[in-house]
Amino acid sequence: MIHEPEAKNVVILMLKMGYTLSDVAQLADDLKKRQSKLPNPMTILRDPTLKKLVASIKDQPPSERAEFGRTVNELKIELTEQARFKEQRLDDKPPIDVSAPFDTGVSAANQPKLLPASEGSLHPVMQELGVMEDIFVRMGFRVERSRLIDDDYHMFESLNFPASHPARDDYDTFMTSEGLILPAHTSTMQHRVLKAQRAGLAHGQPIAAVIPGRVFRNEDLDATHEHTFHQVEGIYVDSGISLGDMMGTIQTFLEAYFNEPIEFKTQPFYFPFVEPGLEFLIKMPTSWQKPGSSQWLEIMGCGMIHPNVLKEAGVNPSKYSGFAWGMGVERLIMLKHGIEDIRYFMSGRLDFLKMFKGEV
Ligand code: DAH
Repeated sequence: MIHEPEAKNVVILMLKMGYTLSDVAQLADDLKKRQSKLPNPMTILRDPTLKKLVASIKDQPPSERAEFGRTVNELKIELTEQARFKEQRLDDKPPIDVSAPFDTGVSAANQPKLLPASEGSLHPVMQELGVMEDIFVRMGFRVERSRLIDDDYHMFESLNFPASHPARDDYDTFMTSEGLILPAHTSTMQHRVLKAQRAGLAHGQPIAAVIPGRVFRNEDLDATHEHTFHQVEGIYVDSGISLGDMMGTIQTFLEAYFNEPIEFKTQPFYFPFVEPGLEFLIKMPTSWQKPGSSQWLEIMGCGMIHPNVLKEAGVNPSKYSGFAWGMGVERLIMLKHGIEDIRYFMSGRLDFLKMFKGEV
């Protein structure tokens, strides 16, 4: 049964004795639709409608015959090419084996030989992130997860970088064609965490969260710069919080992570989302210090959260204050384990990965 008016028109057309030029477009459409459903698309060339269309070329009035002929011919070429394209696509591809490798029906001998799980181990970054998270949890922080794709609002706007703020240029971000952003820092999570945890403040519950995450920058690569690396963001907000609390918190974490006392210093640095903003540096182990190079290594940006960032997330800056940091995970791991080149982490080099083979 044919219900669609369009399909009905086609049937009426097919019953007609001769065709005019204006019929061709509709018949062409119908032929293409039917061809797409055929198991062998080449057979459309033997379709009676197409044959009738070709036969009617000679019946056209002389003034229209040439154009009519060309149009029908083009249609034939198009249908042939479409059929060839489809056949090729099927021929070019190897068949897909849809049998499940772990199907209980497959005998052990016929199952694919895959690496057993005991051969692998967690990537060094994931192992060390686990160690860092444990320390922060013991210090009373909640662990939240960052994202692999984000937007302009969370990357910039909510962090007090208004549109066309020059500090946006400090982050050479990767973007999708839709304008989404691969986060260049884990600070993209600050606004979300502040908003999600702000309700506790009135009940004396501070906002205390760490957010480990993968970040991406269009960097020139060298021993200390990678396009993809990890940060742990930290946020702490309550009433009466000061820079002293921040320094104590970071120092406590670092001493637990390195398992030894550390020496640190801070120096002023501008980030739009903190006031004041600081860089946090630690003294390198003596064995690391190269003659002539600085003995201090910058490992994170930090500071007191800017009142505009608190306000934007619905936290009253005249009642509450807080600090935040974004620490470079690979840098800390490199320091702890004496790794000299950040690029090893992404290299997939087995000799490097095996040094960390522990937990699976
Ligand atoms: N997001 C900054 C960066 O990656 C680092 C940073 C600085 C994070 C200060 C913070 C902060 O939370 O308060 O360049």
